[in-house]
Amino acid sequence: MKLAVVGGGSTYTPELVDGFARLRDTLPVTELVLVDPAADRLELVGGLARRILARRGHGARVVTTDDLEAGADGADAVLLQLRVGGQAARERDETWPLECGCVGQETTGAGGLAKALRTVPVVLDIAERVRRTNPRAWIVDFTNPVGIVTRALLRAGHRAVGLCNVAIGLQRKFAALLEVAPADVHLDHVGLNHLTWETGVRLGGPDGADVLPRLLAEHGAAIAAGLRLPPELLERLGVVPSYYLRYYYAHDEVVAQQRGEPSRAAEVARMERELLAMYGDPALDEKPALLAKRGGAYYSEAAVDLTAALLGGERAGPYQVVNTYNNGTLPFLDDDAVIEVPAAVGPKGPAPLPVPAVDPLHAGLIAHVAAYEELALRAALHGGRNRVFRALLAHPLVGRYATAEALTDRLLAHNREYLPWA
Ligand code: G6P
Ligand code: MN
Repeated sequence: MKLAVVGGGSTYTPELVDGFARLRDTLPVTELVLVDPAADRLELVGGLARRILARRGHGARVVTTDDLEAGADGADAVLLQLRVGGQAARERDETWPLECGCVGQETTGAGGLAKALRTVPVVLDIAERVRRTNPRAWIVDFTNPVGIVTRALLRAGHRAVGLCNVAIGLQRKFAALLEVAPADVHLDHVGLNHLTWETGVRLGGPDGADVLPRLLAEHGAAIAAGLRLPPELLERLGVVPSYYLRYYYAHDEVVAQQRGEPSRAAEVARMERELLAMYGDPALDEKPALLAKRGGAYYSEAAVDLTAALLGGERAGPYQVVNTYNNGTLPFLDDDAVIEVPAAVGPKGPAPLPVPAVDPLHAGLIAHVAAYEELALRAALHGGRNRVFRALLAHPLVGRYATAEALTDRLLAHNREYLPWA
């Protein structure tokens, strides 16, 4: 089995490779192509990837290249994990919205729109070149903002699935709290990428007993602390929101806090320099502990399970939490909205499991952000200041005319080099 990773020079790649090494029975990779325009990074990351596999006695060949077509040729799946503009662009996304009293975040709010505008055209171009080379390859997208990018890919007719680690992270956390194996924990996970709630936690499978009330009663304080939300809020919601909901439920507190501290991008850029220096050490042959300080924990496991299921592997779990077309799953959204829910995944792609009726408290916000995502996609595909403004005005964290105007000006000013129409 051949896999290509676009953005293979990312400091995250050793996490992925570590998963390929540990989970070779689920996903028997024989060739791994790391595709990246940055030759220096590729050399460091590729070297470590080879050493991680060799240490585990894994025979896969690791190829590094800047040639996308060569990577895609004959690949069973192509994983997209790129960041247009790098941490420098992310740092700007996390900074200028604060000047307008809005959260500075790489995927949520105005910063997320800037990222979408930079990223969608690049990802569509890559996907088109992959399809021309190899129309049967599956595209697994981790590239943020995953909801909007997956919308773009599916709308263009690609064989694509969007993936995020929020659900698998909570599954692992709840399993530890409940002292059961992760595979025994099924999440009723609903929403849009980075806008999700766990509305049930079932033991054994989708029809198992719901232990969420017990989990909240016994471990609510610990779960709330992990999300940096007040425990009373979780009690009153009766469900577990993802930590991205903090940007909504505690928006103004987050803004105040962000104004007084360095951006996450700055922190990550520092870690990346350290990681790359470590990767260059020929004695290092496993993923360093520092990588665990990044948000991407368990990415590799989610990626292995999903890819194996798409390629017809029998050992992958019976369903995965993915980003895919709504197609009536949430009746209050358009069929071609992209939602994040558990789905049965096979060689024909994901088929969402039925979702119980969603509390209007969450359904309202989901519908609101889904409308924003549609407008964001239109702005990314067609450009134009007014489309950017309309997307921002539609975002529930913006919603005011003067704020949307001020954000539009800043977004365009900080991203001209990536937006030929601006
Ligand atoms: C989580 C999210 C990812 C995001 C990451 C950021 O893993 O699901 O979509 O990219 O956090 O982590 P970072 O270490 O870059 O802040
Ligand atoms: Mn994510």
